[in-house]
Amino acid sequence: RRSLATVARSDVFANISAADIEAFAKILPSPSQILTTISPESGSAASYQAVDPSELDTFNNDWMNKYHGKSQLVLKPKTTKEVSEIMKYCHSKNIAVVPQGGNTGLVGGGVPVFDEVIIQLGGLNQIRSFDEVAGTLVCDAGCILESLDNHIAEKGYMMPLDLGAKGSCHIGGNVATNAGGLRFLRYGSLHGNVLGLEVVLPDGTVMDNLSTLRKDNTGFDLKQLFIGSEGTIGLITGVSIVTPRRPSAMNVAVFALDSYEAVQTVFGQVKKHCGEILSAFEFFDQTSFDVVQKHATAHVRDPFEARHPFYVLIETSGSNKDHDDEKLQVLLEHLMEEGMIQDGVLAQDETQLQGLWALRESIPEAAGKMGKVFKYDLSMPINKMYELVLDMRKRFDEHGVHGEGKDVGAVCGYGHIGDGNLHINIVAKSYDEKIENIIEPYIYEWTSEVKGSVSAEHGLGLMKATKIGYSKTPESIEYMKKIKDLFDPKGILNPYKYIQV
Ligand code: FAD
Ligand code: MLT
Ligand code: ZN
Repeated sequence: RRSLATVARSDVFANISAADIEAFAKILPSPSQILTTISPESGSAASYQAVDPSELDTFNNDWMNKYHGKSQLVLKPKTTKEVSEIMKYCHSKNIAVVPQGGNTGLVGGGVPVFDEVIIQLGGLNQIRSFDEVAGTLVCDAGCILESLDNHIAEKGYMMPLDLGAKGSCHIGGNVATNAGGLRFLRYGSLHGNVLGLEVVLPDGTVMDNLSTLRKDNTGFDLKQLFIGSEGTIGLITGVSIVTPRRPSAMNVAVFALDSYEAVQTVFGQVKKHCGEILSAFEFFDQTSFDVVQKHATAHVRDPFEARHPFYVLIETSGSNKDHDDEKLQVLLEHLMEEGMIQDGVLAQDETQLQGLWALRESIPEAAGKMGKVFKYDLSMPINKMYELVLDMRKRFDEHGVHGEGKDVGAVCGYGHIGDGNLHINIVAKSYDEKIENIIEPYIYEWTSEVKGSVSAEHGLGLMKATKIGYSKTPESIEYMKKIKDLFDPKGILNPYKYIQV
């Protein structure tokens, strides 16, 4: 398998010139829509000014500060028409582009690899319509997930997905990555919730599939191809999505357990006792818990008297608070009596509810504060998940690199257990190739052997562009490449990423 370290800039793509920027300035009416380090040609009556390279830093570097591009140009369109005009021009000139939403992606997909033009979609931020009977929302792709949730909360609805990055990520970015998140267990995949998309294709064609129909069996369901396509076959500019009613009663409980077997048993018990109101079932280990206690920016209160090897967070969403409270209380007592859990807390008010969620949601941020994080996002049978975490720790121990003050400070295991999705965060002193070589390909081979997926929800991006073969057959990969070529024969959209095998 080819290593990405060997990837070189393709000379098929044009270098950006001052003349190109003048052309973009004709498409984008406001000077604030263009950010570039390329100086105008001297002596010309330029319609833009160059900025200091540091002004492009937030666009060139990812959330983890792991992936670093060298783009000299960020374009900030505000309408679908502007996106279309930009793409027509880029297509005609062979200019490579990278679509960027909130830049919270975790696989290096939203930042350039070399000097690709960044098309930042935050300017497309209008809500187009909301149907209060059907719960269907139609909006621009650059709307921030949390803003959408706040907007429809006033009407008694909620977004069907929720993630730690909700304050920054865009709905377009969520669709492009097919983000899963914390309530996938209850509301399912964006493949089910997205009803329609408006997409600008690499040659500038606008494909308007912005339907609000729940049922529509007329031909191939083309929008599905763009969900999870990570900006490689089109730029999503509009999203139509079905939203569920906001529950009037929400509860959160965190249980402390002494083994991973107990985590699985408790999952079964929770489904048995509260299955119809269950909206999240998350787990995290003691290492993750410790990292949050030591490194989270905001203080996260430890609600327990002692530390425990495992924790699970359960959220219920229903319509009758007394009924749900009673169910959770009965469940808690049952689990304690049977010795399935060692301790447990139920949130008594909204502040406590947020505090319990912070124990889980703060893990990525706290790990990032502690060091450089090698992130792995894997799907596999639930009974296999923690074996891998233990194997990884053992491997680092054998190499003598694991422990306080050593190269690898922590191996955190956590994730969306209800969805069979494990996150392993390996917190290191630096993004050192030596550490990466201990992890890879071992972790991918391990996952492949148990018929798991090397990307459960974060996508392939740059990180796993050469790894898809661990989870997909050669025949499937061949047809995926044909789809890429069909939409983007010039390969100008998000090059070097996604499927590079
Ligand atoms: P970006 O990071 O900007 O882009 C991501 C990819 O989508 C890139 O390939 C980009 O080119 C493409 N893209 C972006 N917008 C468009 C568009 N309009 N059209 C076409 N392509 C586009 N993910 C989960 O699945 N579950 C989680 O629980 C979760 N939690 C997270 C928590 C934190 C703290 C962070 C930082 C990230 C988390 N993520 C999670 C990662 C997740 O992929 C992103 O948060 C989110 O879905 C990406 O949205 P974005 O707008 O930031 O996209
Ligand atoms: C999460 O579940 O917290 C996210 O997928 C983010 C991450 O794993 O870093
Ligand atoms: Zn996740």
